[in-house]
This record gives sequence, structure tokens and C-alpha cells, in this order.
Amino acid sequence: MNYRGPLRVRIDEKPMPEILHPQDAIVRVTRSCICGSDLHLYNGSVPDTRPGMTFGHEFTGIVEQIGGEVQKLKVGDHVLVPFNIACGKCVFCQQELYGNCHESNSEATAVGAIYGYSHTAGGYDGGQAEYVRVPYADVSPTVIPDGMDPDDAVMLTDVVPTGYQAAEMAGIQPGDTVCVFGAGPVGIMAARCAWLFGAGRVIVIDCVQYRLEFARNYAPAEVYNFKELDDVVLFMKKTTDWMGADVCIDAVGAEAAGNAMQSLLGRKLLMQGGSATALHWAINSVKKGGIISIVGVYGPIDTLVPIGNVLNKGLTIRANQASVKRLLPRLIEHVQSGVLNPKALITHRVPLEYVSDAYRIFSAKLDNCIKPVLLPPSVRS
Ligand SMILES: NC(=O)c1ccc[n+]([C@@H]2O[C@H](COP(=O)([O-])OP(=O)(O)OC[C@H]3O[C@@H](n4cnc5c(N)ncnc54)[C@H](O)[C@@H]3O)[C@@H](O)[C@H]2O)c1
Ligand SMILES: [Zn+2]
Ligand SMILES: [Zn+2]
Repeated sequence: MNYRGPLRVRIDEKPMPEILHPQDAIVRVTRSCICGSDLHLYNGSVPDTRPGMTFGHEFTGIVEQIGGEVQKLKVGDHVLVPFNIACGKCVFCQQELYGNCHESNSEATAVGAIYGYSHTAGGYDGGQAEYVRVPYADVSPTVIPDGMDPDDAVMLTDVVPTGYQAAEMAGIQPGDTVCVFGAGPVGIMAARCAWLFGAGRVIVIDCVQYRLEFARNYAPAEVYNFKELDDVVLFMKKTTDWMGADVCIDAVGAEAAGNAMQSLLGRKLLMQGGSATALHWAINSVKKGGIISIVGVYGPIDTLVPIGNVLNKGLTIRANQASVKRLLPRLIEHVQSGVLNPKALITHRVPLEYVSDAYRIFSAKLDNCIKPVLLPPSVRS
């Protein structure tokens, strides 16, 4: 696919990617997903998203070619490729902060590189394509275990680790009430994973009814439509004996709806790094001394949040891009043992050529879409 400007993506011929470094591999894509993170690019809210870029940071594929220094992968391997591009050697990779690699992204000092995620995240083309160049091929790409469904494998490149890390960062204690804002794929997975950490009650809040129904059955969770609540924060207090949730998870990020001023400043005028409505609600709905876990993505510029309440309530905020490689061993086990069933989130299987329709359906939340996967021609014969 080829980004042409806000709300415009189309299919195009591009030159075959080539090995540019001895640690590169070229992968023939077998699955690629569209993510809520791609919607920030699609809507034009990520700085330095250049026309011509191929998006796609969630993909699996067959290794077609390897550079001279690649040792762990061989041609023909079917791999799942974590969305973080990480060198494996820098001081942050050494701490397993693979989302914060200091080497892979020469454009920024905050985030490491991400496939297909603008020049702010390194300028690498992504996997919503037939072929993709995979740098540092020995570090993160992981051979799909025998017997694993490729639909499960592609969900392990982002959604599963991000949902899991959202719950992990929330420091859930046995019996805790967990409130997840956002019933997209990431929020649904975070709610599901909250139980693995011992939650006693899991609440999911969104405004898209079919997604709430999905979360109710899949997580499972208590679900509420914020359009039917007069005041989300007041509701959260009422339903928790006026204490607030023990932890709140922001699985919405920059495109949040629900507050006209935040939407105007963060989504229309792009005067802040996104609309912080869900984060605002999270901070005000959590109990004193509670934890806020943020996986929803915001841009690099300032954003209006009630920092005074964070201070006066004594909150802990934990946030990051998911460190996919760190979490993969235990999450592969969870999928293999049936504890997690991520492919159940895939609602749409779309030929790669119809990528612009897939973006429109996912973005506008049409046709009960939770997660679309794009299938290149080579896997459809
Ligand atoms: N940290 C990471 O590593 C990481 C990885 C993947 C995705 N993400 C981010 O996680 C977020 C969710 O991703 P997704 O794929 O589930 O996206 P999505 O766009 O499919 O889902 C977001 C959901 O939030 C809902 N929403 C909007 N405003 C809300 C509000 N005020 N309160 C509650 N819900 C609200 C929307 O209706 C939608 O269902 C995005 O910001 C994405 O960029 C982060
Ligand atoms: Zn993603
Ligand atoms: Zn690194």
C-alpha cells in the first residue's frame, strides 16, 4: 500500500525491497493487519508521515533472502515479526526495552523504530505489502512454532503483547477492579489479560456497541457505553463504592472521542499530541494511590491532562510501546495452551489489493469490524 495523504491510501507497485545491510532479511508477507495505531497515520496526525510510505507493523512472512551476517534465520522460515525494530545491543535493548531501542531510529530519541510508522518512527516501510525489508533480522523475528495458526501468529506481533503489557504495567493485585478505556482489539485483549493477573472485576468502556458486546463475551467484562452515561467519572465512582477503580488502562490514545474541546485541539487543529479524553477519564476515575497504564498512543507534542489530580491523588502512571520480544516466550505459551485465543478478534480477511476499503471499514467501524487482516495474492491461490 502507498500513503498519499490524510484518509488516502491506495495500492501501488513499488520496487522490490533489497538487502541494505548484512543483518537484513527480505520477507514475503503472508499476513498483515491494520491497527488502531495505523489510524493515527491514516488521519494525518503523526508528524512526518510522508506520501509514498507503506504502513504495516503487524505481519508474518516467509524469509526469502538473508544478508551475510544473519545466523538465526534461514530462507524458507515462516516468521512473525514484532512491530518494534530493535538492535538487540544498545543499553535500552539490553534492559529489554525493545520499544525504546536507541539505534534503530535516527529520527527520534523517545521511541525506537516501528515498521511503516512515519519518519518519526524511523522511516522504514511496513508489511502491508507483498515483500518487506526486515532489519536486525536475528533480533526480533521469531519462527512461528509448529502447529500455530498464522492468524494467531500475526496477532502476537502487536495486539497480544500490547494488551498483555497494558495489564502488566497496571500492577493488578488479586481482586482489583480494572477499568479499560477502549474496546478496540488492544482494549479487548487488555481486558482479557487483566484476569490473568488476578483482577476481580473488569470493566470496559467505549461508545461502539458491537465492540462492547464483543468485549463482554470475549474478555469477559462488564461493559458500558459512555454515550449512555451522563458522566463517566461519576459513574465509575458510584460503581466502586465511591472509591474509584484500582487501576485504569488507556487503550484509546490520540483519536479519543467524548469531549468536544479535546477533540478540537487534538484531532482537528492538531494543537496537542492527540485528544486526551480517555486518559483524562482514567486519571479521574482511578482511586487515590491507584495506577494508570497507558498503551494508547499519543504524539510527541504536549497534551492537556489533569496533572494536578495525578499529584493530589498520588497516582502512578506507567506507559510504553509494548516490548514485544520480551513478552513473546510467555505469550506463545499462552496461545499454545489455549489461555489466549487471539485469532478470534479477526473479523475481516481482505485481499491486499482492497487495502483502501479495509482502512475505511476499520476506521469508520463498519460491518462489526474488530480486526482486519490483509492477505497478499501469494497466499490466496
Ligand atoms: N503501546 C503500544 O505498543 C501500542 C500497540 C498497539 C496499539 N496501540 C494503541 O492502542 C490504541 C488502541 O488500539 P486499537 O487497535 O485497539 O484501536 P481502535 O481504534 O480499533 O480502538 C480504539 C477504541 O477506542 C474507542 N474510544 C474512542 N474514544 C473513547 C473514549 N473517550 N473512551 C473509551 N473508548 C473510546 C473507539 O470507539 C475504539 O473502539 C491506539 O491508540 C493504538 O495506537 C499502542
Ligand atoms: Zn499495531
Ligand atoms: Zn537497541
